[in-house]
Amino acid sequence: MALSLSSTLLVVPIKKANPCFLRDPPSPSFLCSLISPPGCCGGGGRRAMVSHAVREEQSQATGVADTNTEEASAPPSDKVVLVIGGTGGVGQLIVASLLSLNIKSHLLLRDPNKALSLFGTHNEDKMKIWKGDTRNPSDIDPTMFEGITHVICCTGTTAFPSKRWEGDNTPERVDWEGIRNLVSALPPTLKRFILVSSVGVTKFNELPWSIMNMFGVLKFKKMGEDYVRNSGIPFTIIRAGRLTDGPYTSYDLNTLLKATAGERRAVVVGQGDKLVGEVSRLVVAEACIQALDIECTEGQIYEINSVKGEGPGSDPEKWKELFELADCTQ
Ligand SMILES: NC(=O)c1ccc[n+]([C@@H]2O[C@H](COP(=O)([O-])OP(=O)(O)OC[C@H]3O[C@@H](n4cnc5c(N)ncnc54)[C@H](OP(=O)(O)O)[C@@H]3O)[C@@H](O)[C@H]2O)c1
Repeated sequence: MALSLSSTLLVVPIKKANPCFLRDPPSPSFLCSLISPPGCCGGGGRRAMVSHAVREEQSQATGVADTNTEEASAPPSDKVVLVIGGTGGVGQLIVASLLSLNIKSHLLLRDPNKALSLFGTHNEDKMKIWKGDTRNPSDIDPTMFEGITHVICCTGTTAFPSKRWEGDNTPERVDWEGIRNLVSALPPTLKRFILVSSVGVTKFNELPWSIMNMFGVLKFKKMGEDYVRNSGIPFTIIRAGRLTDGPYTSYDLNTLLKATAGERRAVVVGQGDKLVGEVSRLVVAEACIQALDIECTEGQIYEINSVKGEGPGSDPEKWKELFELADCTQ
């Protein structure tokens, strides 16, 4: 069922009145400042994105919604991106970025209300919400893919039993069956399917990965990956290291952002399954967005970490170089 969250206001509402609490998710300016070296936001599209963010912050500070925000945003894109898992840690950053880049976003969510609280209300031509659970093939309505050019999937659950497994939402059901259901339904016209996976998937029987894999998460992610690779759909798989930064659901978001800002902007991209380390969710989100437009990433599996230092920010050329160099190390 498609839910339209319509409103003329395009500003994410302020969630907390307390001055040390900030809104959720981080604004595009936060995203930009966290992953970009100073001055790297100088490109046309990104300049628009920054000014858009500034306007958002101003209107939020005064508590007045800025109805002109739409005019200030990046030029409309011909991409229409369906994000699955868009309320999760990586997913919320992807959706925030798509919105700021004026790329039409469709979201498949188990709980559409989460999108409302995270992203606010939007015209249907900017954001469309579908209610569904990837474990249920019948929830993946083929009409959902009409007009969709790209799909990014960043669903997941915990590696070990937790509250998030409630209702049998286990790694087997989400990372294997959910991915299989989704990929089986993708139209052959799709330009790219991007899957966020994990480092260690090829080594789930070896220490230390075997500990992480005690309940099968890496094995099932690998099965999901293999299904994608064999589907014939143009794909890119991003194997993330241990995720840092977010999910931004903490009340003390300001503190969280300050604690992580500027630390791990440099990006290490490889191929295969050799990396052992961490990666900022901001970097994973940016890698997914960038890969949509970088031709050489089609049909490739990358592993990604982030380390201290200056990084590619949102510069497409730098990301292209990173992905190309990863190709060379194969
Ligand atoms: N944590 C790490 O250190 C780590 C390391 C490497 C790779 N990864 C992987 O990276 C990806 C992104 O991680 P993250 O921390 O951003 O994930 P996350 O915060 O756990 O978000 C997962 C998203 O998946 C959705 N989801 C879960 N089950 C679903 C279902 N049955 N149907 C539809 N949607 C469902 C969740 O929505 P609901 O709100 O409905 O639950 C949520 O939006 C995941 O695949 C994760 O396994 C994680």
